[in-house]
Amino acid sequence: MIIFKKRIDISNYIVNYKKTSGKIGFIPTMGALHKGHISLIEASKKTDTLTICSIFVNPTQFNNTADFEKYPVTIEKDIDMLEKAGCNVLFLPSVEEIYPADSSTTLPYELGFIETVLDGKYRPGHFQGVCNVVQRLLDIVQPNTIYLGQKDYQQCMVIKKLTELIQSPTQIIVCPTLRESDGLAMSSRNMRLTSVERIKAIRISEVLLFIKQEIKPGNLQDLKQRCINYLTNEGYNVDYVEIADATNLILLQNWDGKTKLVALVAAFLNEVRLIDNRIVNED
Ligand code: PAF
Repeated sequence: MIIFKKRIDISNYIVNYKKTSGKIGFIPTMGALHKGHISLIEASKKTDTLTICSIFVNPTQFNNTADFEKYPVTIEKDIDMLEKAGCNVLFLPSVEEIYPADSSTTLPYELGFIETVLDGKYRPGHFQGVCNVVQRLLDIVQPNTIYLGQKDYQQCMVIKKLTELIQSPTQIIVCPTLRESDGLAMSSRNMRLTSVERIKAIRISEVLLFIKQEIKPGNLQDLKQRCINYLTNEGYNVDYVEIADATNLILLQNWDGKTKLVALVAAFLNEVRLIDNRIVNED
């Protein structure tokens, strides 16, 4: 695996690679890699001729300084995992490489409704920061395809919107969430959980399965409230438990029994914010 730290170096490499008829697959990450990330590398390796991963803890997408400072960094282990997965190129830039002093910005992005709901409401500025870094990474890497995890359901929709806004030709592939054997969605933030919190963390996926089992056409308020109460009684500080149209994330109070639904949860277990989601009416 070739490791590039400088934008100019990876850009030169990519300009040369683009002269071949190869296909570039790109997996942007913030490191602290787990099997979920590796499944994205594997998805790229099946169809692309060059798989590029980036590791960059993007300061502009953290609306909470403590969260940024405590974001896990496990770079040696990450490099080892990427090597073993057969990743071809790692881009490991500094903040100055991504945000040089003389760089222009396209902020704010006109993301519309998608930025006002769910994490957009609870993490103001977060998706602007995600778009800011992803646009810069797309400009540098020029991938044919970008691979994202369904665990960040709203982020996938935001990045889709970004590619439309900037008229990027990059195709987006959303890969399924990988889970631990007890159902907990794999996430870099899980590393921050104490052993006691780790046991409690499965409540989030339990709630999503509960919604899947219990959902019936009609009013959804009672079902959502039961989930919020359950998590609160388990010691969570709940941002939201919501059920939305899976195609556009419009939050639903009533279900017609037909619309494809996604249930989404975001809740704090002490300092660690966990998110997860599940398509409700699908096997
Ligand atoms: O999902 C993430 O890890 C980040 O939000 C991303 C897409 C790498 C942008 O910093």
